[in-house]
Amino acid sequence: MNICIIGAGNMGGAIALGAAKRFPNYKINVTNRSGKNTERFTQFPNISCYVNNKRATKGADVIILAVKPWVIKDVINEISDVITADQALVSVAGGISLSELEGMLPWTCPLFRVIPNIAASVGESMTFISERNAGKKVMSDIVGIFSALGKVSVIEERLLPAATALCSCGIAYAFRYIRASVEGAIELGISPCDALDYITQTLVGAAAVINHDKIHPEEAIDRVTTPGGITIKGLNAMEANGFTNAVIAGLKASK
Ligand SMILES: NC(=O)c1ccc[n+]([C@@H]2O[C@H](COP(=O)([O-])OP(=O)(O)OC[C@H]3O[C@@H](n4cnc5c(N)ncnc54)[C@H](OP(=O)(O)O)[C@@H]3O)[C@@H](O)[C@H]2O)c1
Repeated sequence: MNICIIGAGNMGGAIALGAAKRFPNYKINVTNRSGKNTERFTQFPNISCYVNNKRATKGADVIILAVKPWVIKDVINEISDVITADQALVSVAGGISLSELEGMLPWTCPLFRVIPNIAASVGESMTFISERNAGKKVMSDIVGIFSALGKVSVIEERLLPAATALCSCGIAYAFRYIRASVEGAIELGISPCDALDYITQTLVGAAAVINHDKIHPEEAIDRVTTPGGITIKGLNAMEANGFTNAVIAGLKASK
């Protein structure tokens, strides 16, 4: 399989590195405008770097557009005379619908909107995929590529904005929880470095318990709280300060 990734920034670079590690027999072309920041790709013989988008797309089975949303139309215009209807086109750009993408193309081809999150860089993304005109084979190819970067869910396009808020923006909310915990821990007398170490492992553990035991978070909380104990006092103090409402308001604001 030949993959071309246009835009080797944070997301395009993460996709390239994840796919190169998982599929050493795939040929992966990556492009960016400046030709800079390509050192991270040099240890992978199956990645080739380009600044010329047209040359990079030649022979690709899958073309992944990983540029900023406002650059997508220009890139499609630039490559439209060299790409063909049998190449699958994937956009990771937030906020550009499949209909809008289709409207930019002079032909019909398998079209995908993919929303990963930044944990793709460590193989732990929660990635959502919606498609148009995709047969079983190409769908399984695209799911395979993004499975190299973490977990994948194929969903209806109408749910993408909510899924984006929950997981693509949501990872930033998790980072903010980590930061808030570190700040609280410092006040309690733990060093910032230790606090960061401790809270990240605590979150890894929380996610692992839910994933492993397949239980509702409240049931997991019941396992931790003791009547009259310190955990319930902490939870109630957080709720009194708007914890759940703040999370829900944040998700709604980012949809
Ligand atoms: N980061 C995330 O968490 C995340 C999550 C989900 C979806 N996305 C989506 O992913 C896309 C990329 O985001 P990002 O965070 O990876 O941005 P980024 O780090 O700024 O990367 C954008 C890349 O595109 C390159 N580029 C710009 N114009 C180009 C052109 N005409 N031809 C070829 N390459 C070009 C840039 O090259 P130069 O640096 O040389 O200009 C840069 O390497 C966005 O549409 C975003 O909505 C991002």
